Amino acid sequence: MTKRIALITGITGQDGSYLAEFLLEKDYAVHGVVRRVALEDPEHHLWRLRSVLQDLHLHSASLESFASLHRVIRSVLPDECYHLAAQSFVSYSFEDEFSTLNTNINGTHYVLAALHDLAPKCRFYFAGSSEMFGRVEEVPQTEKTRFHPRSVYGISKVAGFELTRNYREAYDLHASSGILYNHESPRRGYEFVTRKISSHAARIKLGLASKVPLGNIEAKRDWGHAREYVKAMWVMLQQPRPGDYVVATGETHSVREFAELAFSHLGLDYKDHVASDPQLFRPAEVDMLQGDASLARATLGWKPTISFYELVREMVDADLKIQSGRSVIDAARSVGFPQ
Ligand code: GDD
Repeated sequence: MTKRIALITGITGQDGSYLAEFLLEKDYAVHGVVRRVALEDPEHHLWRLRSVLQDLHLHSASLESFASLHRVIRSVLPDECYHLAAQSFVSYSFEDEFSTLNTNINGTHYVLAALHDLAPKCRFYFAGSSEMFGRVEEVPQTEKTRFHPRSVYGISKVAGFELTRNYREAYDLHASSGILYNHESPRRGYEFVTRKISSHAARIKLGLASKVPLGNIEAKRDWGHAREYVKAMWVMLQQPRPGDYVVATGETHSVREFAELAFSHLGLDYKDHVASDPQLFRPAEVDMLQGDASLARATLGWKPTISFYELVREMVDADLKIQSGRSVIDAARSVGFPQ
């Protein structure tokens, strides 16, 4: 039997790497879109894919170039396409609104248009986000809750979501959106708050740092584990009909609680180490997110199993291992962690 072909944009990121592993286990031929720089400097850009690199087919293209995405899709002709690539750091979207909108909206539009043109039977997944709910109009949020984004990032995701719906309705594309709540892991980028806390807690435990500067620690998020969330993406594309699904744990915790657990796991008190930095507060904040994934549970049979505490512990343990294995020179070099 010929293998099913999957194409992942954003394969080098946290979700892309877990999804690639998952699809390889399911015996897919897995192709990924990467930036040219990733192929030129694999050690730096492809570290999350290290264990499966030899089994992947990587193609260079840019989300800013329709021609490059069209060329990749023409050569791969995927059965399933997971569009995960985006400028995904909300804070950065306040600093560079224009490039966030260009990359996230046009990139999604280019992929949809190229699939419509070249592979209209391909099933498409769009990485929507709970940031689309923004200033939430109800708690918990469902697929029916109205969007009220609070950042250009959130706005770009609403546009991508609407593009996906429109391609589904106008051209009969099997196009689905996952409205994913925050999902974390030891592969999370250091700029996101969970990884920032887990890595700093580990460094503080080892005497390599003493403080972690944070912004709004009262913000609440519904945090799940990325490894489980990529499975929901796949199940969506196995459905006879496309749809939109909230993917969440249904629990909400504050950044403060995350810090408290992370530090206490190492026998430390977060109050001694968290420093408030006014510059890290956002111009418009999403105060609380809590998702209701009943539809995903009922229709997709998807439900999360990893608890908040297990997630925090796994991240802190992984960072302790990484930081303990560092040479003194590495440790000194990494003083300037991204904030
Ligand atoms: N990054 C960061 N750094 N966030 C901080 C800090 C800090 O020092 N201090 C407090 N926070 C607060 C933010 O203000 C926000 O309320 C919360 O921590 C979470 O921030 P992030 O981890 O940066 O994630 P996010 O919620 O903005 O966005 C993530 O989740 C979305 C889904 O809800 C990203 O993964 C998005 O790409 C994703 O769509």
